[in-house]
Amino acid sequence: MIKILKINALEKTYDNTVQVLNDINLDMEAGGFLILVGPSGCGKSTLLNCIAGLETTTSGSIEIAGRDVTQVEPKDRDISMVFQSYALYPTMTVRENIAFGMRVRGVPKEEQRNKIQEVASQLQIDHLLDRKPGQLSGGQRQRVAIGRALVRHPSLYLFDEPLSNLDAKLRVEMRAELKALHEKTRASFVYVTHDQVEAMTMGTQIAVLNGGSIQQYGTPDEIYHNPSNVFVASFMGSPPMNILKGKIERNGQALSVCFLSDDGIPHRVNVPHYDGTPLQHGTEVLLGIRPEYCYLDNSGETIELRAMQVEVTGVDQFVKFRCGDDRVLTARFSDASPMHAGANVRFSLKTSEIRLFDPGTEKAIDSVAEKLVERI
Ligand SMILES: Nc1ncnc2c1ncn2[C@@H]1O[C@H](COP(=O)(O)OP(=O)(O)OP(=O)(O)O)[C@@H](O)[C@H]1O
Ligand SMILES: [Mg+2]
Repeated sequence: MIKILKINALEKTYDNTVQVLNDINLDMEAGGFLILVGPSGCGKSTLLNCIAGLETTTSGSIEIAGRDVTQVEPKDRDISMVFQSYALYPTMTVRENIAFGMRVRGVPKEEQRNKIQEVASQLQIDHLLDRKPGQLSGGQRQRVAIGRALVRHPSLYLFDEPLSNLDAKLRVEMRAELKALHEKTRASFVYVTHDQVEAMTMGTQIAVLNGGSIQQYGTPDEIYHNPSNVFVASFMGSPPMNILKGKIERNGQALSVCFLSDDGIPHRVNVPHYDGTPLQHGTEVLLGIRPEYCYLDNSGETIELRAMQVEVTGVDQFVKFRCGDDRVLTARFSDASPMHAGANVRFSLKTSEIRLFDPGTEKAIDSVAEKLVERI
């Protein structure tokens, strides 16, 4: 099957010195929603601009719908792009803004009118067609910008943080609308954001970037549950995955990890999914566990820690515990009776959700379960 987008060994260096993108390899099936996410300055816009042809590449290649477009002009790449700054023409009406590209391409008047009507009703901006951008709210302007991209049916739609100028409530609404639009049109989207919630809720595939390199490329589920390194574990999720320092303890085949609370008391948790790995007794590891995998259900193996801080947000209580080496374990308890700082809390960790990382490389250590999956 032809990939709608294929990026091979892409490198981008500015002025022969500053390397901004390093060995980028990505591919995407038609109809996908690919998210490029990462902190400010990691190279997301540069990568999107390389796909669009607005930036040249230093080496490597880009294919769109099976065609090598690395040296092709932006207008001939069969893409549409929506920017963060809506880039609307202020003196034109909404109708003229949406029609602009079609007019330039010489699309017949009748077809222009039909197209405008179609996207305007899709985006619910029919009643705004005769206004100028200055008479619109931020959300409405962004809809117009999206509408302008939608009147074409290119192989790829490219979005660079299209919702970041909107207030929190509107962002959530537009996020859902864009996702619905993607499902309805079955078009292929590449979407840049630094917002990990946006990434997790919208994408079918996520590429997490940091420092110009892809840290992990996978489905939202893979990224969330099996982060490939500490960066991904800490960047994705809110609050992020807890990362504690621990040591392996081996008792025959059985493996457990021992970590310290800030008073120096050792706590042990079993990690049976790592039993068959070559981890030796005494090996230092980083133990990762997401806040929602801490349970007040005390039927199994439990640990007891003193609460340092309690934050209540609706039904959830986020309780922070100080652990050794200045690390903090945040637990999310839902629907529990109110807790207080200073109180001892007994809880368990969902063992199968514990992830181990190498403290030197910060890369995930493969568990046996993962190896089995890979072999299948
Ligand atoms: N023309 C340029 N010359 C030199 N360096 C540049 C140039 N344009 C961008 N950079 C650098 O490239 C890096 C990546 O920039 P880019 O705009 O792709 O980041 P980003 O991930 O989109 O960030 P943000 O989330 O802030 O938009 C940054 O360190 C930036 O300073
Ligand atoms: Mg950017």
